[in-house]
Amino acid sequence: MTSGPQKQMIKVLIVDDIPDVRDNLRKLLAFEPDIEVVGAAGTGREAIQIATEMRPDVVLMDINMPDMDGITATKSISTAVRTAAVVIVSVQSEPGYLRQAMLAGARDFLTKPIASEELYTTIRRVYERNEPVRQQEALMADARTTKGDMPKKAISMSRAAGHIIVVYSPQGGVGTTTIATNLASGLMRADTRVLLVDCALQFGDVDAFLNLQSAANISKLTQSVNDLDPDVIENVVITHGSGLKVITAPSHPEQAYDITSSEVKDLILMLGTLYDYIIIDTPTQYDDLTLKLFEIAERIVMIANPTIPAIRNCRKMIDILDAIEQPTRLSEKVIFVLNRVANEKDRGHGTVPVASIENHIKRKVTATIPQDDRAVLTSVNQGVPLVAKLKSRSPGRELMGLADAVRRSVESEDEAIEEKPAERTKSGLRAIFGGSG
Ligand SMILES: Nc1ncnc2c1ncn2[C@@H]1O[C@H](COP(=O)(O)OP(=O)(O)OP(=O)(O)O)[C@@H](O)[C@H]1O
Ligand SMILES: [Mg+2]
Repeated sequence: MTSGPQKQMIKVLIVDDIPDVRDNLRKLLAFEPDIEVVGAAGTGREAIQIATEMRPDVVLMDINMPDMDGITATKSISTAVRTAAVVIVSVQSEPGYLRQAMLAGARDFLTKPIASEELYTTIRRVYERNEPVRQQEALMADARTTKGDMPKKAISMSRAAGHIIVVYSPQGGVGTTTIATNLASGLMRADTRVLLVDCALQFGDVDAFLNLQSAANISKLTQSVNDLDPDVIENVVITHGSGLKVITAPSHPEQAYDITSSEVKDLILMLGTLYDYIIIDTPTQYDDLTLKLFEIAERIVMIANPTIPAIRNCRKMIDILDAIEQPTRLSEKVIFVLNRVANEKDRGHGTVPVASIENHIKRKVTATIPQDDRAVLTSVNQGVPLVAKLKSRSPGRELMGLADAVRRSVESEDEAIEEKPAERTKSGLRAIFGGSG
């Protein structure tokens, strides 16, 4: 069994003009085994200087400071050090500033006086959310040292990392591919670039679900993942009639043997710089590939049918994810979906009630997709996702609801910008940031 990755220390920079506040924060963080305070600054300018030198993972930023305020400093740091996640530390009476701070790139906020537990959870949460950005930076640094110049793949790396969403079930045939294709399709908007990648390397069937013929597949990209040319990517990515972009799995199972899980991981991280969402269909086995995908994922959409074997397998999987900290538990990324849920009147004795399922899997069911053989079969035969055609009618409606729920759970900053400042309460903001505590 694979164990979790080596634990990294979370490097924290404290910024506040009052020495006592800095000392207090330092003391609060002193005994956390995974947190290391790498510096403290008393002014905005000093903060930028130290952040550039020390490259902290998390910056605790005061707002009101002499010389340069925390918002201006946040803007500079977020641009200069992409791996640094800024957390604003403010007093309740500064809601207007808070909005500006988020526009400047802040990731979360804490209210003074700070409760220690909230401080720790917030630091760990923003650190974890920044994992894809750290991985991309590491990838770029690697490429730079091995090639001596800026890799082509860095072309659009200045933008924020796309959201990586892995769709998975430990049980075969429950509808993982159905959900992955509909989720990808449901997330598409004029301003949102979505890519669906079939990582069920041996028996991937996204091409069949979407009626796609592909000359090239994922293996073409994994072969040369450290030297990818945008033209090559363009040749492999197929555009579905609905506009959805897709990378298919190898056409023959044996081709999958030549693809390593590290290559797939590097490829996905790189593609994350080109698309707003990467939706990944997966095979059922729990192996090095699925683990790597879970690690880089922002969310794991776990699918089950409402049957005892399916739920038991999901529980086992959640227990495994519970044990892997990165630095927070992988299980916290799980969005749970029940698929093929029969009508009330058709429900037989074999169906497990939602409340017991939630109890067993230790979390809420985010979406319940009804069983509808005809609609799903027609959609597969026509190669058109349900949400692309019938999004207002069940089960397209519920699938669209899932896409919206996934979007809400990851696009915290974007939503925060649209919120009216007057409506911000502490818990409201927490909801916007999607924090679970
Ligand atoms: N909500 C639903 N109602 C009716 N049929 C469904 C529903 N969801 C999926 N199906 C059907 O169930 C079958 C399995 O679906 P799908 O291939 O998406 O599952 P999977 O978990 O990806 O399977 P595999 O383990 O083979 O990859 C397909 O025939 C599909 O049409
Ligand atoms: Mg499948």
